[in-house]
Amino acid sequence: MKKVLVLTGAGISAESGLKTFRDSDGLWENYNVYDVATPQAWAKNPALVQEFYNKRREQCLSAKPNAGHLALVELEKEFNVQIITQNVDDLHEKAGSTNILHLHGELNKARSSVDENLIYDLKGKDINMGDFCEKGSQLRPHIVWFGEMVPNIEIAQKMMRDADYLLIIGTSLNVYPAAGLVSFVPAHCKTFLIDPNDCPTGNISNLTTIKEGAGTGVSKAIKIILQDM
Ligand code: APR
Repeated sequence: MKKVLVLTGAGISAESGLKTFRDSDGLWENYNVYDVATPQAWAKNPALVQEFYNKRREQCLSAKPNAGHLALVELEKEFNVQIITQNVDDLHEKAGSTNILHLHGELNKARSSVDENLIYDLKGKDINMGDFCEKGSQLRPHIVWFGEMVPNIEIAQKMMRDADYLLIIGTSLNVYPAAGLVSFVPAHCKTFLIDPNDCPTGNISNLTTIKEGAGTGVSKAIKIILQDM
């Protein structure tokens, strides 16, 4: 079975009501990202960081997958599909996709602030100051903040090397190392970019651009892949 690799960013969840990061005002849901999504922010004001992610988690609880997420589930009937997502929401899971690698963590999980291997499922609940891991340290969001290592990046690079097709959906390709993954695909790989806006695509070969939102654009890319197989 041919392998379809899918790299998603915030844009695939936009039509589910979740805001993208790089809107024109430079703020993320009215917060400056450096006040809430960096290790420095956590050191300075952990309660603010918790509040921010508690709000994002609550918002995600009611969000539903859109046609873009659902089209990727259908694709599993014909292909071996692996999703690599930069998103911390769980909309690929809710849609029913099978193979999902989260690069930047997951909103619905907490982890120990002294042992990154102690990870807990939050089942939609808040994390509060005073909630501790089994080693007695404060729980923090299971999120890869700006300036932190991306633990899954090498696994993602390996996945890229096996791709026959690559779908890039709703990512501004601004944030590294995730944006650099596209350079790992083999020469025969056919790549599709689905985004209503222009993205930096300089070194991507075999590229088809579908300048649309994920809700309609993902199905169009899949149609082309099905004709090509
Ligand atoms: N369908 C598809 N794409 C869309 C849609 C839509 N309906 N609406 C907007 N987009 C596109 C935008 O044009 C933009 O190119 O989604 C992209 C979103 O880009 P970013 O907001 O930069 O999000 P992303 O690329 O996922 O950010 C990467 O940066 O903030 C950090 O860790 C965070 O994972 C995030 C990473």
